[in-house]
Amino acid sequence: MKPSPCPLHLTASIRRRSNNPAEAVLPTKLPILGMLPSLLANMYNFHEYSSVVLAGSGLNFNGDGPPGAGMRFFITCDPANIQHIFTTNYHNFPKGAEFAAIFDIMAGGLFTIDGELCRRRRVKFAGVVSSPWFTDRVAAHCCDKVKDHLLPLLARMATTGTSFDMQELMVRLMFDMTAMAVFGVDPGFLSSDMPPVDASTAMDTVMEVGFLRHTMPASLWKAMRWLNIGPERKLLEAKKVLHRFVVDTMDRRKRNGENVGHNENEEVVGDILSSYINDPDFADDDLLRATLINFMIAGRDTIGTTLPWIFYNLAQNPNIVSIIRKELSPIASHKAANGMGAMVFEPEDTKSLVYLRATLYETLRLYPPAHTERKTVVTDDIMPSGHEVHAGDAIFISLYSMGRMESLWGKDCLDFNPNRWLLEDNNKLKNVPSHKFLAFNSGPRVCMGKEIAVMQMKTIVATVMWNFDVELVEGQSIQPKLSCLLQMKYGLIVKLKKREA
Ligand code: HEM
Repeated sequence: MKPSPCPLHLTASIRRRSNNPAEAVLPTKLPILGMLPSLLANMYNFHEYSSVVLAGSGLNFNGDGPPGAGMRFFITCDPANIQHIFTTNYHNFPKGAEFAAIFDIMAGGLFTIDGELCRRRRVKFAGVVSSPWFTDRVAAHCCDKVKDHLLPLLARMATTGTSFDMQELMVRLMFDMTAMAVFGVDPGFLSSDMPPVDASTAMDTVMEVGFLRHTMPASLWKAMRWLNIGPERKLLEAKKVLHRFVVDTMDRRKRNGENVGHNENEEVVGDILSSYINDPDFADDDLLRATLINFMIAGRDTIGTTLPWIFYNLAQNPNIVSIIRKELSPIASHKAANGMGAMVFEPEDTKSLVYLRATLYETLRLYPPAHTERKTVVTDDIMPSGHEVHAGDAIFISLYSMGRMESLWGKDCLDFNPNRWLLEDNNKLKNVPSHKFLAFNSGPRVCMGKEIAVMQMKTIVATVMWNFDVELVEGQSIQPKLSCLLQMKYGLIVKLKKREA
C-alpha cells in the first residue's frame, strides 16, 4: 500500500468533476447567517476549498458572514491585486487591529505593527540580519548542528531501520537553530533522547488557535477568552509556557556569559537579543518578550514547516533527487567525508547551486508555510480586477491557492517540477515577481530572512539527500492541519537508507 494521496493534490480532480466549478463550489449566501454555514462546512478542507472557489471565480471572491458580525471579506490570489495591495497602494492595506489582536502574544512585535513604527523596526532588524558577523554565526551554528546532532541521529535511524517523524525532527532542529540565533542559547531539543518540547508545542498552539480566531467573529473568540474556555484556555496555557521559556532562556544566556562582540562601528553584535536588550525602545519587558517570540516564529515556524514538504516531494521524485546529487557531485569530489563517513555541505558549498534553489522554490510555491496573508482596508478602494473593497473589510490572500492556479502556472500547475524555475540553459533562475510567488511576501514588508532561510535549507537538504535515501512509510495520510502554518497534521513518517560513499 502506498501513502494515501495528499489531499492537497486533489484540486484538479475536484475541478474535473464539474463542468461549471464556480456554480458547483461557491459558498451559498443565506439570509441571516450569510456564508458562514458554507464556510464552516468546508473548513476541514480549507486549502482545497479556497483553491476551488478561487479557480471557479476568476481568482477573486467577495464573501460575507452574518450581517453585523464584521465578517465581510475579499479573498484573492490574483497577482495584479496582490501587487496593488502589497506595493502600489500599500498604505491603504495595513495588517490592522484585528490581526494584531489575533496574535496578541506578539503585541508590539514586528509582525503585528503597521505604519512608521513598522518601518523603523524593520530598519533596526535589517541592521542585525545584514551584519556579516550575524550571518557567519548562523551559518556556523547550522553546520555544527547538522554535523554533530542531525547526522548522527539520522545515521542511527538508518542503521536500525527505524521509522520516524521527519516533521518532528525538523521542527526540533529549527527550534534549536532559531533559539541560538535569537538568544545565543541552544535548548538542545534535537537530541537522541528526544526531550519534551513544551515551548515548541506551545508555538504550534498559538498558530492553531490563531487560525480559529481568523475564522470566527471577533466577538466570539473574545468572549471565549474572557470565559477562559475551549481553545482560548489552551492558548492561555501556551502563552504561559512560552513566556517561561523566554525568561528561562534569557537567564541561561546570562549564566553562560553573553557571547557577543563589537563590529567596526562599535555596535554590539552577537545574537539577536544583544541588539535589543539595551535598547531603550525595548525597555518594556512585555515588548521585549513579544519581540523575541516574534523572531522565534519567523525562523522556526517557516523553515520547520517547509523542510518536511521538501522531503515529502523528494521522496516521491527520485529523478529530481538524482539531479540534486549531480549538482552536488563536483563539490563532494573536493571534500572529505567526516569521521562517520558522511558528507556535510557547508553554506559556501551550496551558495551558487541553482537547481537546489529551484527545488526549494517549487516546494514553497505548492506548500507555502504561511499559506494565507491577512490585510485590512483603510478606505474604500477598487482592485485592478474591478472588485470593490470597503473600509474595514478583511482581505485574505491565499498563497496556497496562488501556487495552484492553472491560469498562473500552466496545465502542470499541480506537478512538482523545479525546472519551471529555470531559464532555458538551466544555469540561471527565472525572475518570477514576488506578487506572483508570494512565499516570502512582497513590497515594503517583504521577508527579511529570505537568504538566511535559503542558506539553512540548502545546507540541511543537501546534506540529508547526499547521505541518505528517504522513503515514505506506506499507508500514512499526509494532510495539513488547521493552523496558520501549513504543517502536516500527522507528521511525515519516513525510513532512511544510508547511501554508499
Ligand atoms: C522558509 C523560510 C521563510 C519564509 C517562507 C518566510 C516568509 C515570510 C512571510 C510570508 C512574511 C510576511 C509575514 C506577515 O505578513 O505577517 C515574512 C516576514 C518576515 N520574515 Fe520571513 N520567512 C522565512 C524565514 C525567515 C527567517 C529565517 C527570518 C529571520 C532571520 C525571517 C524574518 C522575517 C521578518 C523579520 C519578517 C517581518 C517583516 C515585516 O513584518 O515587515 N523570515 N517572512
